[in-house]
Amino acid sequence: MNISRLSLLLLCCLVWRTARAEDIQSPNKQLTLSVNLQADGVPTYSLRYKGRPVLKTSKLGLDLKGTTSLTSGFTQTAAERRTADESWQPVWGEVKTIRNHYNELAVTLTQTATKRVMRVRFRLFDDGLGFRYEFPRQPELAYFVVKEERTQFALNGDQKAFWLPGDYDTQEYSTVTSNLSEVRGKMKAATTPNASQTPFSATGLQTPLMLKSKDGLYINIHEAALIDYSAMHLELDDQNFVLESHLTPDAAGDKGLLQTPCQSPWRTVIVSDKAADILTSKLVLNLNEPPKFKDTSWIKPVKYVGVWWEMITGKSTWSYTNQENIKLDSIDYTKVKPNGTHAANTAHVKEYIDFASQHGFDAVLVEGWNTGWEDWFGKHKDYVFDFVTPYPDFDVQELQRYAAAKNVRMMMHHETSGSVRNYERHLDTAFQFMNKYGYTSVKTGYVGDIVPLGHKHYDQWMINHYNYVLEKAAKYKIMVNGHEAVRPTGLSRTYPNLIGNEAARGTEYESFGGNNADHTTILPFTRLIGGPMDYTPGIFQTKVSAYNPQNNSFVHSTLARQLALYVTMYSPLQMAADLPETYNKHLDAFQFIKDVAVDWDDTKVLEAEPGDYVTIARKAKGKSSWFIGSSCDEQGRTSTIKFDFLEPGKKYVATIYADGKDAHYEKNPQAYAIRKLNVTRKSKLAQYCAPGGGYAISVMEVK
Ligand code: NOJ
Ligand code: CA
Repeated sequence: MNISRLSLLLLCCLVWRTARAEDIQSPNKQLTLSVNLQADGVPTYSLRYKGRPVLKTSKLGLDLKGTTSLTSGFTQTAAERRTADESWQPVWGEVKTIRNHYNELAVTLTQTATKRVMRVRFRLFDDGLGFRYEFPRQPELAYFVVKEERTQFALNGDQKAFWLPGDYDTQEYSTVTSNLSEVRGKMKAATTPNASQTPFSATGLQTPLMLKSKDGLYINIHEAALIDYSAMHLELDDQNFVLESHLTPDAAGDKGLLQTPCQSPWRTVIVSDKAADILTSKLVLNLNEPPKFKDTSWIKPVKYVGVWWEMITGKSTWSYTNQENIKLDSIDYTKVKPNGTHAANTAHVKEYIDFASQHGFDAVLVEGWNTGWEDWFGKHKDYVFDFVTPYPDFDVQELQRYAAAKNVRMMMHHETSGSVRNYERHLDTAFQFMNKYGYTSVKTGYVGDIVPLGHKHYDQWMINHYNYVLEKAAKYKIMVNGHEAVRPTGLSRTYPNLIGNEAARGTEYESFGGNNADHTTILPFTRLIGGPMDYTPGIFQTKVSAYNPQNNSFVHSTLARQLALYVTMYSPLQMAADLPETYNKHLDAFQFIKDVAVDWDDTKVLEAEPGDYVTIARKAKGKSSWFIGSSCDEQGRTSTIKFDFLEPGKKYVATIYADGKDAHYEKNPQAYAIRKLNVTRKSKLAQYCAPGGGYAISVMEVK
């Protein structure tokens, strides 16, 4: 047989092979993915875990605006397989080394009628599936507008879900725990008021969506590497329990303006029969690209305090004067009457710097330092803040000197009030100002509707804005913590200067009416799947009225549980959010916040059930000490743990910060007891957690 005959034969084999359904397995063979083309050329996939259905036959594709949709009429023209097994070290993280091990299947589909090519790349890991659409450069598809993405996740029946109302502008909702069949009935009550909100459907849900199937599978659906695309929600078909992608529209109602070559973010499905495995999954990070910049030496985890909670509770104000209707370009602040409640004044900020320095904190956040707060919100003004002009009582130069002398860094605050064009206009100047005055990190904020009006917090235009800010900040060696920005999708691997995000109800809501007592047993399974959250724990004075008699809210947590959150709510950026005056009254408990690490070599999930409890142990980076946190729901429970993660042959002292016997998140939140215990890897502990309570333990080696 001559060479060309041989290659013809090989080609025939290839075409014959690729015309069939494709199956791949995860490296440990517990997950099986099947990719298929239906008779009408509709691409589908399905997923099984240990032989049990995770996703039934689910359709793939996209509807395009004004042209043939990429949903049917396909033939498979190639299928490539590949295995990857590599390890990488995050700049900061829950573990020192992350293994990225998957089997890949890339299926190239050609639409017969249009000759358009779309590739679906699947990566099957031991802990789940990631897949994305890729659109190679091609004459038949240069520019296109996405009308809707039609990716299905066909569940195996009704399931328990931990869900938030789908919304184009906010994730600051309480999580509802219910069966999917109950979503429609509960949607209205779940959609509580927010400064900016655009719910879109009676069955629209947010990601990360945490599910538990009737046969005990834990399933998490989210996305990874959200770049130049709009954020994905899920639309539930509550008859058939099929979830379908629902992208965030822009001001024109379009859901994505794309130009080939391009790709969608990864769609992710994490699955296990153990809840703890969902928390240790690194799938979302693994689907992101390595750091975009080589020098990451300037990126450091941060433990901070701040002039913040006192404004959130209403004890003091961001604004300098009570005079309203202020136009930034025409006001002379030295001529207005100060309100006497402005917290960000030089003397007061110095008290925070002293406190930070005395207790070894890295940084001090100051909000309300800059002009414009009198009239920043709800007016949809274009020009609100300039990000460089301090109020007359805030001496930026003196505070820089004072902080530097005390070895404390200043953390900048940029509230954009959603006015994004204005922020971008000022960005370089604002970052130069930060460099000049020694600020190494910035907390950004996007409260209110996005200006220009019509854009949504999660549309493609805004996604590009958040990523633009990260890139620009990196040029100035600035770390970013975005509030009200889109929920993270593991992008901190690519941009390790993204050290924090809000994108859920944080501690601030304890002052705006309260978070559910089980909130922090759910967030690790939902919001935190995409990346760390600036949850701002550490509130010891749980009665807000102690600071502001007009505010009757209270923190739905015991004091001991507030300590646990430094471990259970992973973040390289952790705030001690309460006021120094309160910490000074509880210095014994405060010791845990001082000791706890913010960067880790290792993480063990000791117990976990979404909505009920989470107990996690973490080993401090480069040290022999461990820290344990446990958070439980409103029921209370006794947690039992083994210390078998400790090193053999070593002795440790465990300091246990626990709920007092009669502690209760509502009735007796401040009852705590601290005790010490000698432990080795053979030790066990049964520890009581009060309703809405928990415990924290520091485990220090005895040398
Ligand atoms: C909302 C943020 O979440 C909060 O932390 C901040 O203090 C206010 N916006 C004001 O910017
Ligand atoms: Ca917020």
